[in-house]
Amino acid sequence: MTENCRNTEKQMQRGGSCPAEAVRKDFPILTERTAYLDNAATTQKPRCVIEAVKRFYEEENANPLRGLYELSAAATQEYEDAREAVQGFIGASFPEEIIFTRNTTESLNLIAYSWALNNLGPGDGILTSVEEHHSNLLPWQMAAKKTGASLYYLEPDREGRISGEAFRAALKPGTKLAAVTQVSNVLGAENDIRLFAEIAHEAGAVFVCDGAQSVPHMKVDVRELDVDFLAFSGHKMLGPMGIGVLYGKKALLEEMDPFLRGGEMIRSVSLDGASWAQLPAKFEAGTVNAAGAAGLHAAIRYYEKLGWDRITEAERELTRYAIEGMKKIPFVKILGSPDPERHNAIVTFTVEGVHPHDIAAIMDEDHICVRAGHHCAQPLMNFLGVSSSARASFAFYNTKEEIDRFLVCLGSLRRRMGYED
Ligand code: ALA
Repeated sequence: MTENCRNTEKQMQRGGSCPAEAVRKDFPILTERTAYLDNAATTQKPRCVIEAVKRFYEEENANPLRGLYELSAAATQEYEDAREAVQGFIGASFPEEIIFTRNTTESLNLIAYSWALNNLGPGDGILTSVEEHHSNLLPWQMAAKKTGASLYYLEPDREGRISGEAFRAALKPGTKLAAVTQVSNVLGAENDIRLFAEIAHEAGAVFVCDGAQSVPHMKVDVRELDVDFLAFSGHKMLGPMGIGVLYGKKALLEEMDPFLRGGEMIRSVSLDGASWAQLPAKFEAGTVNAAGAAGLHAAIRYYEKLGWDRITEAERELTRYAIEGMKKIPFVKILGSPDPERHNAIVTFTVEGVHPHDIAAIMDEDHICVRAGHHCAQPLMNFLGVSSSARASFAFYNTKEEIDRFLVCLGSLRRRMGYED
């Protein structure tokens, strides 16, 4: 960890259960002016992540994996060190089970193109759920259309929960792939991924987990969950944009065809064809995002210094505080569970008579950042009977003062829209 992220460590040694005061200094963009409550869309970056990217370009930039000179070797080392850090962070058995991609979306598409198109056909099934982000839905629609497999959907309850029984009942004979999110990006509800993976395996299906909203907020261990694939993004977990991860079990990845074809992913090429490099290179065609990987590595080290207990407790406390405050404001409706413990730092809501885009615009007048719209989950919004909604999402560096500002603004919305009550 660079000198620049030592603030956290020093201040936390002095005590303090909520790390916000200690950590905020590590995030150059966080000021008193702006309350950033759109962390499910992307998190802010600590200085050590920014420095790691900068250091790569200032001191190590060369094309990794290609050059035979010292600088290229340093770039390669940086990139492979990042892979090992990700491996440790999610408990994978081998570094080559970690494939660097651009983001969760690309990771899920990789599975659809490289696994589903080659393993599914008419008579086979794909199971996913109504509460998925479009990234865990559109690739399966494509795969079903191209292979003739049937795509069918699990419905959550109104709070976003999918029970083990519902999952088991939905797994029709012939289902070869099931893909479910660990945490809903709209409702914050968490699914019992370990149970789903076990049920899927009993039925002979491969299990894909969308970890975009879980990996940044809780300990996720792929061996404990026994998922076959896990997809997540660096930018939602303090890392840079443009670096994401696909974890896959080695035996599955080894059988799969490449997703993209080009430089550095081949064993040999002739005018008649090609054979592929070993893992992970087979899935990392073209010049890789080594600076992004270095930034993600720094983000992982930052998480590890802070520790999951502090992170989850701080985020739980903020979520509790926000939801309890929101419940006291008339005309506000929280989507999903009334229980703050079931929201995993995500609170999506509507305000009667105020369009969510107006909610976000008025919040912006008060320098509060929230997201409004369908949150890339239109089928879930249809299922819930809402066309759009606003969403506040928290990270451990948010403060109760920021939530107070959000609550004051929320309470003023209808008046500012011209209502008298
Ligand atoms: N998937 C991100 C979100 O839910 C962008 O906001």
